[in-house]
Amino acid sequence: MLASVFARPLQKSRRITLRNFALCILFIFGASFATVTLGQSTSAPASPAPASPPSSSFPKDPGVRGIAVNAGQPLASVATSPGASDFFANGLLRFQEIESVQGGANNGLGPRFNSNQCSSCHSQPAAGGSSPNANVFPFIGPNPETLVYSLDGAENTLPSFITPNGPVREVRFPFFLNSNGSVSSTPDGGVHDLFVISGRSDAGSCNIQQPNFAQNLALNNIVFRIPTPVFGAGLIENIPEETIYANMIANSQQKQSLGISGQANRDGNDGMITRFGWKAQNKSLEIFAGEAYNVEMGITNELFQNERASPDEALAGGLPANCRINPTPEDATNMTPSQYYLVPSDVVQFAMFMRLLAPPIPSTTAPGGPQSIANGSRNFNAIGCNMCHTPAFQTGPSSFTAGLSNVTANLYSDLLVHHMGTNLADGVSQGAAGPDQFRSAPLWGLGQRIFFLHDGRTTDLLNAIQQHASSGSEANSVIQNFKHLTPQQQQDLLNFLRSL
Ligand code: HEC
Ligand code: HEC
Repeated sequence: MLASVFARPLQKSRRITLRNFALCILFIFGASFATVTLGQSTSAPASPAPASPPSSSFPKDPGVRGIAVNAGQPLASVATSPGASDFFANGLLRFQEIESVQGGANNGLGPRFNSNQCSSCHSQPAAGGSSPNANVFPFIGPNPETLVYSLDGAENTLPSFITPNGPVREVRFPFFLNSNGSVSSTPDGGVHDLFVISGRSDAGSCNIQQPNFAQNLALNNIVFRIPTPVFGAGLIENIPEETIYANMIANSQQKQSLGISGQANRDGNDGMITRFGWKAQNKSLEIFAGEAYNVEMGITNELFQNERASPDEALAGGLPANCRINPTPEDATNMTPSQYYLVPSDVVQFAMFMRLLAPPIPSTTAPGGPQSIANGSRNFNAIGCNMCHTPAFQTGPSSFTAGLSNVTANLYSDLLVHHMGTNLADGVSQGAAGPDQFRSAPLWGLGQRIFFLHDGRTTDLLNAIQQHASSGSEANSVIQNFKHLTPQQQQDLLNFLRSL
C-alpha cells in the first residue's frame, strides 16, 4: 500500500523513509482510530465485509438528495439591506433572461453560442447551479442545448455528444488541424461554440457554419467541460490571497508523504491568484461573467468587446460583416436608467447576483443518518481527501454585505490546481494550469449535483472518486487509502458527500 504513496515523481518524497512511513500510519490511524482500520493486504479491507449486500451494490452512491432544494437563496444579510436585495433580485432576473439576436427584449445572441440564458446551463437544483436533467430531482428539464440548437429556425445539427439526459457541454479542441485535415502540434485549447445563429428568423443573412465536430471527434481532438455551480461564489471571491497561500504551505509533511503538491494558478499580468473555473483560470466573478456572456452566448460587453470569430475566420478576414449585426458592446452601462439598480451592465449584475448568492445548506441527517455522515466526514479527513479539498476557509472583510465578511466558507477546495494524471488530463493549458492540472473541485452542493468531473463523464460519486487515480495523479495515495476503508466506511464517506 505504501509504495504508491510515493508514486508521484516528487524528488523529495521518493525515498521511503521509516519516518514517512510512521507519519502516514500515525495520521491515518491517529485521526480516526475509531473508524478506520488499515488494510493488511493491497486490496482486501481489514475487517470482513457485511454478509448481506453483494459487493457490487455496496458501497453505493445514494444519488441526488431529493428531499428539498435549499440552494439558490441570497445570503441572509441581503434581506436586511434594501440595496443589496434590489441588486440580487435584478441580478437573478438578468441571469434568467433569454437572449435573441436582435429585435427582441434582450438582444445580442451569437453569432456563435452554446446557449441563450445563463440559468439554462446553471440550473440544477436552482438558478446558479450546474447541468439539469428531466429525470432527476428537481426535474428541471432536459439538457438545454438540445432545445436551443433549432430554436427560432436555427439550422444547426445537434452534435452526437449532446443528448437530452447528458450534461451541458462546452467544447474545446486541444490542437488545431492542418490544412490536410490531420491534427497539428499547434495547441488550440479554446472554446468552440456548438451553434450558430444561421437560419434564425432574427439572424438576417448571416450564414456561418458550425465547426466540424464529427471530424474532430473522429480525430480524438475534442474535450468537454460542464458548468460549475456558482452558489457561494462571493465567499470564494472574498478569501484573501494570503489565506490561500497559508493553507497551501500548511500540513506540508503530510502532503509530501501522500505525494500531494498543488500550486496556485496565477494571472499573467499582476501575478496574483486566479480561482474560478475547472482550472482556476479566472480571477473574479465579473471577469468570468464577461467571458461567459461572450463565449457561451456570443454577447459582446464592456470586458469582452468583440464578436468571436472562429480561428479560421479570424485569419481569413474575420467574421463576415452580415454576422456582425449589433453595435458593440451589446451589453453596456445604462446611462438613462429608471431605477438605480438598472445602471450597471448585465455583466456587473450577473457578478453581483453570484456574489450575493448563499452557499448550499448541507443536511445533517440525509442520506444515511447523522452518525454515518459524521463518520464519513471524519474519514474524509483521515484518509487525506482534505489535503486538496480543504473543508473551510475564512473570508476577509467585505464592503458589499455582512454575509461575506469574516465568515467560514465550507467549500471543500484549496483553490489550487493539482496534477490529476493521464486519466483526467484534457491536454489543455490555461495560465499556470497544465494539461493534467485541475482545481480541487469545491464539493459544497455535491448532494444535489447530477454530473461529476470536469467533463461530466460520470453521474456516480464512487466512480468520480475512483477516476482520481491514474499514472501521475497527486491523488493516488489518497485513493489507495480510500480503497482500504471497509465497505461501511466507504458508504459513510459517500453519505457524507451527498449530505453536502
Ligand atoms: C452553455 C452553458 C453555459 C452558459 C449559457 C453559461 N455558462 Fe457559466 N459555465 C459553463 C461552463 C462549461 C463552465 C466551466 C468553464 C470552465 O471552467 O472552463 C462555467 C463556469 C462558470 C463560472 C465559474 C464558477 C466557478 O466557481 O468556477 C461562472 C462564474 C459562470 N460560469 C458564470 C456564468 C454567467 C454569468 C453566465 C451568463 C452570462 C453563464 N455562466 C452562462 C457553462 C455555461
Ligand atoms: C490531489 C488532490 C485531490 C485529492 C487528494 C482528492 N481530490 Fe477530489 N478532486 C480533485 C480535483 C483536481 C478534482 C477535479 C478533477 C476533474 O474534474 O478532472 C476533484 C474532483 C472531485 C469530485 C467531483 C466534484 C465535481 O465537481 O464534479 C469529487 C466527488 C471528489 N473530488 C471527491 C474526493 C474524495 C472523496 C477524495 C478522497 C478520497 C478526493 N476527492 C481526493 C483533487 C483531489
